[in-house]
Amino acid sequence: MPNTASKDRPRSAKPACASAVDMIELVLPNDTNQLGNLLGGRLMHWVDIAAALSAQRHSNRISVTASMDEMSFLGPVKLGQVVHLRACVNHAFRTSMEVGVHVDVEDFKTGDTRHVSTAYLTFVALDEFGHGIAVPEVIPESEDEKRRYEAANARREQRLRRREEFAELERLRQERAKQA
Ligand SMILES: CC(C)(COP(=O)(O)OP(=O)(O)OC[C@H]1O[C@@H](n2cnc3c(N)ncnc32)[C@H](O)[C@@H]1OP(=O)(O)O)[C@@H](O)C(=O)NCCC(=O)NCCS
Repeated sequence: MPNTASKDRPRSAKPACASAVDMIELVLPNDTNQLGNLLGGRLMHWVDIAAALSAQRHSNRISVTASMDEMSFLGPVKLGQVVHLRACVNHAFRTSMEVGVHVDVEDFKTGDTRHVSTAYLTFVALDEFGHGIAVPEVIPESEDEKRRYEAANARREQRLRRREEFAELERLRQERAKQA
């Protein structure tokens, strides 16, 4: 099916805070490893869900994960603790959006809160034919939103550079496979 011109539709603009998502998860036995610590993959799954909800709230479209930047786990999260994920669209480009997800863990017995991870994901909004569609611009309002908006520009450049490098490696791999 030919691609539509939907990528070039005029875009409206929405405040960054309109895409804010707050998600809470309780760490249950099935989420943990043999040490009773939350599995990294489970946290990545929750991060992906929170980010998808935020991207979809911003674009009002089904949005798919194009990439997730490197993610570090700053400390263990134990069985029975509460994970608090806050997601927001930092910047919208043409069809893609950078979503930042801040993850804290809360010990409900003491009320202590600890930052355990931050992740940046890129989502692409799709139209009804599965093609990328232009998304509303983001209006950063608070000082934090403005800082994240600017930082997202630099991260996007790095991602696009990495994407080109991967494409070049893949091209070389295919060439070598043909010669073998
Ligand atoms: C994401 C996807 C829609 C991009 O499609 P594509 O044909 O490569 O699209 P384009 O080259 O036109 O890029 C579309 C946008 O995505 C961005 N993009 C694509 N790959 C990216 C990556 N790895 N990292 C960051 N941004 C990326 C482009 O910069 C572009 O942004 P812009 O329109 O805002 O300028 C496509 O690769 C896809 O469907 N991937 C699978 C998604 C999925 O199923 N995810 C769940 C995990 S399997």
